Amino acid sequence: MLILGIETTCDETACAIVRDGHEILANVVSSQIDLHSEYGGVVPELACRRHVDILLPLINEALEVAKLTFKEIDLIAVAHGPGLIGALLVGLTGAKALSLALGIPYIGINHIEAHLYAAMMNTLNGQTSTQSLFPAIGAVLSGGHTSLVLIRDIGHYELIGQTIDDAVGEAFDKVAKILELPYPGGPEIEKLARLGDHKKYPFKPGVVKNSPFDFSFSGLKTAVLYTVKGQNAETEKEISRECIAASFQNAAFKDIISKTLKAAEAYGCQNIVFGGGVTNNRHLREMFLKTNSNFNYIWPDHALTMDNAAMIAGLGFHQFLANPKGDSLELEALTSIPF
Ligand code: KG4
Ligand code: ZN
Repeated sequence: MLILGIETTCDETACAIVRDGHEILANVVSSQIDLHSEYGGVVPELACRRHVDILLPLINEALEVAKLTFKEIDLIAVAHGPGLIGALLVGLTGAKALSLALGIPYIGINHIEAHLYAAMMNTLNGQTSTQSLFPAIGAVLSGGHTSLVLIRDIGHYELIGQTIDDAVGEAFDKVAKILELPYPGGPEIEKLARLGDHKKYPFKPGVVKNSPFDFSFSGLKTAVLYTVKGQNAETEKEISRECIAASFQNAAFKDIISKTLKAAEAYGCQNIVFGGGVTNNRHLREMFLKTNSNFNYIWPDHALTMDNAAMIAGLGFHQFLANPKGDSLELEALTSIPF
């Protein structure tokens, strides 16, 4: 089954063609970093306009890369949330129009669920039965979400913890701004942190009372702000941006690691599946490995950590097996979708 995936939830326009849920024939991404970097964050209206301009040329590019024509596509899978409403509408409307014009079904995909599927894509390698992987703990670490999810099977999830304020990627982006690093901040912090001592600043992430699997990163971000500019500010000579980056990164990741491992233990899961842009961070992967735990870590390929449409098309295959009619034209774009 050949599936065209479309992703326009935020600031990347992405199209992919995936066979049977795992074989990637094309995966093209048009980043909008150039458009938003001067503002230090995503400007929704600019994002929407760029999606409108780029979506159809990008679909044609994906078909060219895969050496296919529209006639050979069996299904369209599109991210219909969560994300920026205008941005979502571009992809969803495009998918509905193509579905009507080509006379093929389309299916709406949860972007967050797709981030987790990105890691499973290789591991499943074409098997439609996924029983060997589950139950698993899913850790979604992105710019918009930080969640721990019990995965019973593809399509069957239970939210067990989430951030009560900033997402971890958002905290990276905000700390990068404080340190006057370019947008997006995550990769910049990772680079800078390599040069610093993570023990220099005793930063701590928030503890959420009576919710052992919830996260809070806004206090951590504020502690960085005070260290650089505010009430705890050291003299300019004494501040080490490298050590601040390393100490912040270490505090955030230690918290994520401890809660993820505790969740895996509490729910009796052998496998931990990771998804989202922050899992691109090599130091995070090393820190998990250094815990020497017996859990099996399932990471997405680096090329599939950031927003992409291969994960959307891949998950579309499994969702279509469960819902072979596809979605109706009534399906709405959703800025948030609860697990
Ligand atoms: O999953 P994603 O592409 O978009 C969302 O769905 O949010 O994640 C983007 C987020 C941004 O906050 C970015 O700063 C962060 O992922 N990120 C990183 C790294 N690469 C991207 N954070 C830490 N280290 C990285 N290497
Ligand atoms: Zn994402």
